[in-house]
Amino acid sequence: MRPRKKKHGSERILACSRFLIEDPRSLMDDPCAPFGKKRPIHLEIGCGKGSFATGLSSVRSDINLIAMEKISDVAVTALERTAQSENERDDNLRFIIGDAKLLPEFFPEHSIDTIYINFCDPWPKKGHAKRRLTHRGFLEIYRKLLREDGMLIFKTDNAGLFDFSMEEFAESGLEIVWHTRDLHSETNEIAKNNIVTEYERNFSSKGFNICSAHVRFTKKENENAE
Ligand SMILES: C[S@@+](CC[C@H](N)C(=O)[O-])C[C@H]1O[C@@H](n2cnc3c(N)ncnc32)[C@H](O)[C@@H]1O
Repeated sequence: MRPRKKKHGSERILACSRFLIEDPRSLMDDPCAPFGKKRPIHLEIGCGKGSFATGLSSVRSDINLIAMEKISDVAVTALERTAQSENERDDNLRFIIGDAKLLPEFFPEHSIDTIYINFCDPWPKKGHAKRRLTHRGFLEIYRKLLREDGMLIFKTDNAGLFDFSMEEFAESGLEIVWHTRDLHSETNEIAKNNIVTEYERNFSSKGFNICSAHVRFTKKENENAE
């Protein structure tokens, strides 16, 4: 379902433009430039209304977080939420409005430490599998962008998508460092530090278990040494 068109969307984005990376291709020179401070780059893909991004950036002053959302009418809410909670963080959150398939045009190779994908669209039809953000085609993009030993942190309520993703991780030769099919019943540090997203709150209140995987990316053997 398409989100409802936001009234005065472009004016509202303009009012929060200090948090928006208007020309994401400029990150190719230095992904830390919009922050004015060198810190490890973390990237959230498909941030929706931004509750994870605002939550994470307020407890992780040691990172520069870039959150990406392809629908501008959804990104408006994330940008406004960031502006409203500006004093709660160390100026370490910026947004890109754009599609994940363009990531190689935005980031230098091996410049990102951690990628978060939370509750991405499951694209249930087999013919649409390539659109899933955990399809091997996307994993190859992430492999180029992540630093050696960089991590993908993935959450979903959709058991079918989780099974598919675990197979894709394994087929792509990635190391599944940790996983669970019921994050909210775990008691470890990962579960304690979990930042609940909008979709997570909604699906878990309806009784769905939350699945999660932490996946490490290493260089392919045939990839040129840097
Ligand atoms: C199901 S929502 C989940 C939102 C949020 N992550 C959460 O957990 O509450 C998926 C979001 O990802 C965005 N999205 C889907 N495909 C994308 C892509 N290829 N690039 C960037 N954003 C994408 C959608 O527009 C949508 O806002």
